[in-house]
Amino acid sequence: MCGIVGYIGCEQAAPILLEGLKRLEYRGYDSAGISIYQETIQTIKTKGRLADLEEKVNQLGGAMGNMGIGHTRWATHGVPSDINSHPHLSQNGRISLVHNGIIENYMELKKFLIEQGRTFVSDTDSEIAAQLFDYYYQGDMVDALIHMIEKIRGSYAFGIMCRDKPDELVAVRKDSPLLVGIGADGNFIGSDIPALLEYTRDYYLLEDNEIVLLKKNEVTVYNLEKNIIKKEIFHVDWDISSAEKGGYDYFMMKEIMEQPEALRKTLFPRITEDGIQLDGVHFTKEDIDAIGRIHIVACGSAWHASVVGKYVIEELTRIPVEVDLASEFRYRNPILNKGDLCVIVSQSGETADTLAALREAKRQGIRVLAIVNVVGSSIAREADDVIYTWAGPEIAVATTKGYTTQLAVMYLIGLYFSYEKGRISKEQLLQYCKALHEIPQGTEKLLVLDERMSQLAKVYAHSKDVFILGRGIDYAAAMESSLKLKEISYIHSEAYAAGELKHGTISLIEDGTLVIAVATQSHLFEKLLSNIKEVKARGAKVIAIAIEGNKDIETVADEVVYIPETENIFTASYNIIPMQLLSYYIAVERGCDVDKPRNLAKSVTVE
Ligand code: M6R
Repeated sequence: MCGIVGYIGCEQAAPILLEGLKRLEYRGYDSAGISIYQETIQTIKTKGRLADLEEKVNQLGGAMGNMGIGHTRWATHGVPSDINSHPHLSQNGRISLVHNGIIENYMELKKFLIEQGRTFVSDTDSEIAAQLFDYYYQGDMVDALIHMIEKIRGSYAFGIMCRDKPDELVAVRKDSPLLVGIGADGNFIGSDIPALLEYTRDYYLLEDNEIVLLKKNEVTVYNLEKNIIKKEIFHVDWDISSAEKGGYDYFMMKEIMEQPEALRKTLFPRITEDGIQLDGVHFTKEDIDAIGRIHIVACGSAWHASVVGKYVIEELTRIPVEVDLASEFRYRNPILNKGDLCVIVSQSGETADTLAALREAKRQGIRVLAIVNVVGSSIAREADDVIYTWAGPEIAVATTKGYTTQLAVMYLIGLYFSYEKGRISKEQLLQYCKALHEIPQGTEKLLVLDERMSQLAKVYAHSKDVFILGRGIDYAAAMESSLKLKEISYIHSEAYAAGELKHGTISLIEDGTLVIAVATQSHLFEKLLSNIKEVKARGAKVIAIAIEGNKDIETVADEVVYIPETENIFTASYNIIPMQLLSYYIAVERGCDVDKPRNLAKSVTVE
């Protein structure tokens, strides 16, 4: 989605903005622009890539000045074009504004402004905000911003500068990410931490409608009554390299390789000699006993992790679990009963539908536990309890370490609840903990499949369709495998519960069709074997994923990829690793832009 960077300080602003915007590229964009202040506001914007913007900036002599705002736009209102790109100016050129989000009542506001004699040049909702701010501006930026947001309905992160204020920049957010970076030689705004990490590790995390006034060496935060709010500094230890590619061709591969470490960070502090210890959640035994039903809600891969979570949590706790797509849950008037628990899962913590689902659960008075990666994100802040996944920044659009750490947290919750409810003994708990503790190392072992997956990718890179089969948890894992493949390689792929094949899908199998069979559930193995034979008989090429030591599978599959032995309920963590690698190499083989697949954005902050 759109990205925002702003700077005010002693340095030249343009290089800082362009660098920050580059770090936001992963969010997806179709146009970009900057405004720089020097005596007046100079605005340069263009449809296309950041390299095009950089070229334009250079042609104009580099855009000198120590204050500026920048933006990468992902079109919603109005096609990608120079005019629709941000920053947007007020009609008199006094105000320059960048916006991320959607102004829902923009038609009504536009009508009002037209009545005041204003004219518009773009098709965007954001230009309305620039004009509205200017309409209210009477010499005080904070006052104008308060007036403006009182009139706006929707989601927003705004960065704004004014021609009359050479040393002030204002910003605000609601339901859209924005944070403030506190630097030694200047201050920043940015859509996320990696955008600013090169310049500062100290941040203010903004609550909805907290208004920030940034000066060169001062940052003041106000509430809507214009009272000053004292903010705590949020310090991050991330190394700059954790937000860069670290020698890999793509962030996705770097992040695949980071999984053992991310899993260690997520699991190890929570596995003790005594069992599971969950930081950030405050469930007593009585609370857990009182849970009648768990509703897990998420989008995309986080939803796939939730489906695995359903199998695992139901198996361990016997608490019924419903899994919902956030975009469905928020509008279907879900039946939530007193004592139910809602678990919200999101890597970014900013996905619009997931955030809305959280709010629906809270509106109905249900306790919300969030599983989130981005610290201080909206979902993390609004949930009653948060368990962080500690995967570190995830830049590639296709999630890898985000997903596997979500699985890890599902296991932790399942085991914790199960033991507290008395469904498993201490001995069983410790047995599971041992298996859980082995997952990072098992993952490391699987990463050596790198070379083999790259060879297989060469053979299957030009497949037309790929079907991925599984039963039980293997089916849940197949869904994530299928998404990985299709989102980055653009090969049509579908996950099927293997038992459903005969109800229609098998008619699509023809000579040479690639079928990937996830066959790691010991109690369902025989059944899956029959399904493999059925597709083989119709000419399919089969790659099977099976547990180390299972030789039977070799008699039916063309290729077998082995995963380490583990508890049945933990196999999804291993199954996905070869599939991430295979998808990656197929995408590379097909010349796809692995980190930024077409039409996709990392953080889906609008509906
Ligand atoms: O940040 P979130 O976990 O809420 O994002 C949810 C989905 O948008 C995300 O998982 C998406 O499906 C990815 N492209 C999957 O790789």
